[in-house]
Amino acid sequence: MNKIQKVAALFIVVTVCFAFSQVKFSVNARLADQDPKKIYTEKCASCHGERVDAFVDRVWKHGNSKDDLIKSITYGYEDFGMPIWGGILTKKEIEGMANLITESLKTVQQYDFAKAKPAFNGPAIFKSNGMTVTLDTVVTGLNSPWGFEQLPDGTYLITDRSGVLYHVDKNKNKTAITGTPAVLAEGQGGLLDITLHPKFDQNGWIYISYSKIKEEGGKKLGTTAVVRGRIKDGQFVDQLEVFEGLPYASTRHHYGSRLVFDKKGYLFISMGERGQEKVFPQDISTSPGKIHRINDDGTIPADNPFAKDATAKATIYTYGNRNPQGLTMDPVSGLIWETEHGPRGGDELNLIKPGVNYGWPVISYGINYDGKPITPISKKEGMEQPVNYWIPSIAPSGLTFVSGSKYSAWKGNLLVGSLRFNYVNRVIMQNNKVVGQEKILMNIGRTRNVEMGRDGYIYVGIENPGTVFRVRPM
Ligand code: HEC
Repeated sequence: MNKIQKVAALFIVVTVCFAFSQVKFSVNARLADQDPKKIYTEKCASCHGERVDAFVDRVWKHGNSKDDLIKSITYGYEDFGMPIWGGILTKKEIEGMANLITESLKTVQQYDFAKAKPAFNGPAIFKSNGMTVTLDTVVTGLNSPWGFEQLPDGTYLITDRSGVLYHVDKNKNKTAITGTPAVLAEGQGGLLDITLHPKFDQNGWIYISYSKIKEEGGKKLGTTAVVRGRIKDGQFVDQLEVFEGLPYASTRHHYGSRLVFDKKGYLFISMGERGQEKVFPQDISTSPGKIHRINDDGTIPADNPFAKDATAKATIYTYGNRNPQGLTMDPVSGLIWETEHGPRGGDELNLIKPGVNYGWPVISYGINYDGKPITPISKKEGMEQPVNYWIPSIAPSGLTFVSGSKYSAWKGNLLVGSLRFNYVNRVIMQNNKVVGQEKILMNIGRTRNVEMGRDGYIYVGIENPGTVFRVRPM
């Protein structure tokens, strides 16, 4: 007997009983409709991803009104791989699924992606739990202020993705430093991060990451590379390439690429998987989709996890990373933290540990941009779980710990820039776990970077127009 026949049979029995006894009673057994969340996990998650709110964050092909949803689920789209559920699920269960999807849509729509345009122009006051802050403009008129460093004299070095390294003085004047490498400023590429050597005061070393170009067979290829140099008389000199990701790729996105020195003086470099998830992140004989660790002169630390594996790239520190655009050291513990962009949903916060596989693209909490699933699983033995993940994607860029004495209510918190929703996410950490989150600096703009300056102020870089703000407590 199939389910419809069962229902029919039971209906007859019930009717007969009712007629005989004239006593009201309710029908139970299998006819009890199953909980929509349970149905989703058992019957939908394998194709649509584990989280229903990740699934609903999509461009709808067949409409998302309740009637549309009921129709899609009942009749399916067999030619496109969507099974017919009418006959497998009861009418009530299908309605329950439509309600679950509608509810999840509300969660996603509260972020108001479409309406989230930069609304900030000019002095503004932002209040957050225990802190009131305002913004001072450090510099504006840039394209995309990707990297930021404050020099000992209080002035700034800012990398603009368009390909220019600017020196910015205290009066908002910017001067282009000449002699920096040519960059492939297309797509997500360009002049990317900047960091100073821990002993910059003595040696003057500056490290810059960028999209390096190679011409091959009339085609332009690119990769993530890091160059070390010094600034003399407005020129970038004494250059040494300390890292070159291999192989080059023809794509123009997912370069990474953040630079962080740890307390021992090792340089960490994040590199994205160049949009080729099936090729690079799980293959340790290649550089893309990894976090790398090198000495300050580009040589390889003897205890790097794959230093003795002849088939591996010896610079690799972690693998299975997607597009890590946030990397920072906790100044208290010395631990390295990373954020990476997920696909649609599933942006991650990870604690970076040597030799660990972060699982992309085998495990993920996100799904494809077209709504099609990438992987049905989000957990697997031997692959690290993120410390936190965001659905929908906030598009994390820039990552820093609040330190110093200027922001007592935020001290020790992690700040994550949101490119997508135009705010900074304040993440409250305890014992390396996320215990709370708050959106701060709402509508500030597409947040490209957030960093602590040497002077103890938080600095935030936004796009359109490229501007760097100092966050000043009031
Ligand atoms: C075997 C894989 C698979 C399973 C299992 C599956 N779906 Fe789908 N579903 C798809 C595909 C593929 C599409 C896109 C169809 C198309 O392109 O027209 C889709 C489309 C949909 C749509 C329409 C989306 C739109 O863009 O308009 C809804 C709603 C939906 N599925 C709900 C469900 C629900 C609820 C379940 C569980 C009861 C489920 N699906 C189970 C593969 C699946």
